[in-house]
Amino acid sequence: MATVIAAIGGSLLRPEIEERHAWLEGLVSVIRDRVSMEDRIGIVVGGGAPAREGIDLARPLINNEGHLDKIGIAATRLNATIVREALSDAGVSVSGTIPNRVDEAVLLLEERPVVVMGGTTPGHTTDAVAIRFAIASGADRCIIATNVPKVFGEDPKTNPEAESHDFLTHDQLQEIVGPAEHSRAGASQIVDPVGVSEANISNMTLNVLDGRNVDLIRAAIVGGEFVGTVVRGA
Ligand code: UTP
Repeated sequence: MATVIAAIGGSLLRPEIEERHAWLEGLVSVIRDRVSMEDRIGIVVGGGAPAREGIDLARPLINNEGHLDKIGIAATRLNATIVREALSDAGVSVSGTIPNRVDEAVLLLEERPVVVMGGTTPGHTTDAVAIRFAIASGADRCIIATNVPKVFGEDPKTNPEAESHDFLTHDQLQEIVGPAEHSRAGASQIVDPVGVSEANISNMTLNVLDGRNVDLIRAAIVGGEFVGTVVRGA
């Protein structure tokens, strides 16, 4: 029995591939299984393609990152609605609304075993929302489900030789992602630097993994070994 919050990258829900329905079915089945084992699970869904597309459309007209962030937030809430409805239709006891704030989400998680949300306010991404949700709900850990296998020292797309890490301290991860700033709406990092700094202050364990394989999400919720990067205090 654990309380776990998972940031689900929008790219996982919205990949440009045919198998995306199977992935969503897999996610629903993992959550259903874990709820039957009495886990409590918060899911924070990222914006993915609709966030990028909306921000790109508006950027030439809007010269304010906070205003563009609001477009990204709307996309995360759209994606969260897809996940919430899929869980609800599968018979999972999920909260009936998509909360706008973390404190609201914490209260909902006391009533229902599963809460799904998207973004909240401008200035960060859904990783930071998930980390805040994990801290505020006293969760055992926070999963960051992304589309790379581990945290790398450099971007593996630009340097194929980049070294990957099984374990990092919060300070080491902060060093990799840079200072706790949100520079640009829609800009993506392996983990949001704003969130990393808050996880560091509250000593919240992060499990960064490749969410394309839902079995890794399952393993991280269960709390055993999983392939990915564990981020802990020094
Ligand atoms: P995401 O959380 O999707 O960012 O938010 P991301 O790093 O691109 O991650 P994935 O891969 O899609 O999951 C998309 C954008 O929405 C705004 C930001 O502009 C962010 O870059 N946003 C999101 C906020 O301003 N506040 C939030 O709480 C969430």
